[in-house]
Amino acid sequence: MTVPSFPRSDPASPEFWEMRYRAAFTPWDAGAVPAPLRDFVAAHPPAGPILVPGCGSGHDVRFLAEAGFDVLGIDFSRAALDAAAPVVGPFAARLRHADFFAPGLEGPWALVYERAFLCSLPRRRWVEWARRVAGILAPGGLLAGFFFFGDGERGPPYPLLGQEELDGLLAGAFERTADLPVEESVPVFAQRERWQVWARRT
Ligand SMILES: C[S@@+](CC[C@H](N)C(=O)[O-])C[C@H]1O[C@@H](n2cnc3c(N)ncnc32)[C@H](O)[C@@H]1O
Repeated sequence: MTVPSFPRSDPASPEFWEMRYRAAFTPWDAGAVPAPLRDFVAAHPPAGPILVPGCGSGHDVRFLAEAGFDVLGIDFSRAALDAAAPVVGPFAARLRHADFFAPGLEGPWALVYERAFLCSLPRRRWVEWARRVAGILAPGGLLAGFFFFGDGERGPPYPLLGQEELDGLLAGAFERTADLPVEESVPVFAQRERWQVWARRT
């Protein structure tokens, strides 16, 4: 794939993502619903609302809405939401232009679904991310999804350097209840992501 060149910008800003969605350069986007998400909601149907932070083109939002769940996908890039509009079709009300760190998403949520969101955030925001997820989940609520591990290359995607790093972010407020290899990934994540579920301590 040819990598276009973009003006320098901060991945913590909407502009960074805006430029990439407008250029249709989205190598993180599988354009499909991953099997581990389907399996997870079939086995553990969330009993309350689901938040999808950084929902991008919205395939997972559509799937969850169609499956009958109370889901909200948020993204701070309008271009991402423009890409999501035709994907979610009749479920447009399940998308919102919002910053994950801004007030207004307090929930409480039964499930926060993670897919290529943490690894899109510069590491300086990770502690804040962990606090925010813990703060908006109901007690007993779940953080579930894909976590990207790697060697510390320049991001995004910013890899977790090991399980200890993720434990350090989450273990204070959560207990890990699942940890599985991921069979199918887009090339940028291949063999380097795991499906994990973390339960918010009550
Ligand atoms: C790597 S993309 C992943 C998109 C989607 N989850 C996927 O797997 O295709 C990261 C997304 O998070 C969004 N994002 C980054 N920081 C955000 C924030 N603070 N609030 C809301 N969205 C954010 C970006 O605009 C982008 O759409």
